[in-house]
Amino acid sequence: MTVFSHRRTRKLAAQLSNFESSKKALDLATGTGDFTFSLFKEAQGTIIGADMSDKMLSIALNRSQDLGTNKHISFTLVDIDHLPFPDESFDVCTIGYGIRNVPDPLNTMKEVARVTKNGGRFIIVEATPPTNYQVKFLVLFYFRKLVPLLAKVLSANTNAYTYFAESISQFPKALEFSKIIKQAGWKKVFWYPLYHETVTIFLADK
Ligand SMILES: C[S@@+](CC[C@H](N)C(=O)[O-])C[C@H]1O[C@@H](n2cnc3c(N)ncnc32)[C@H](O)[C@@H]1O
Repeated sequence: MTVFSHRRTRKLAAQLSNFESSKKALDLATGTGDFTFSLFKEAQGTIIGADMSDKMLSIALNRSQDLGTNKHISFTLVDIDHLPFPDESFDVCTIGYGIRNVPDPLNTMKEVARVTKNGGRFIIVEATPPTNYQVKFLVLFYFRKLVPLLAKVLSANTNAYTYFAESISQFPKALEFSKIIKQAGWKKVFWYPLYHETVTIFLADK
């Protein structure tokens, strides 16, 4: 339903993370591990995938076992606002399609800053509302009307897609969101809008 753009986006985000084999990364809201495995393809460093859903994590763990990556990748259950890691533990932190759903994004980004080493990098990938009114209308029409119709035909959960459209429309524009990232203590913030601004990769350095 997203025309396979997610895979390309995660690959680009992993490349922008500067992850290297000697480095340690934390992938938050890992879900079933898609972004974690993209990072690992980029460089075979040490990665912890973290999520609040044990069901998602057990799928991620099975995938890792099948891929033979469990020497390098581990998965852990977390409360995203109270990460169970000491200060300055990671060179790279990432969150793909997760920051939209956390209860207090500012607090989460402060907590991520705490566990990131000085000079480390934080990559956020998120679905964002396009600034162009016509593009925004078309995107929201697609997710509010066409995708739920397709979901109905496929007997999938239509509410999930309606929620997705609403949460995109409520997410701050990239410039506003970059200010919140800085407020959380990140020194330099850049962003890369993709696919007519429907997805944005935010890059923050500590
Ligand atoms: C859409 S999935 C993202 C999966 C993956 N990162 C990707 O790139 O596709 C969102 C994930 O965020 C997790 N999540 C949502 N709120 C969270 C929170 N407060 N703490 C930790 N994980 C959370 C959910 O359990 C879910 O697995």
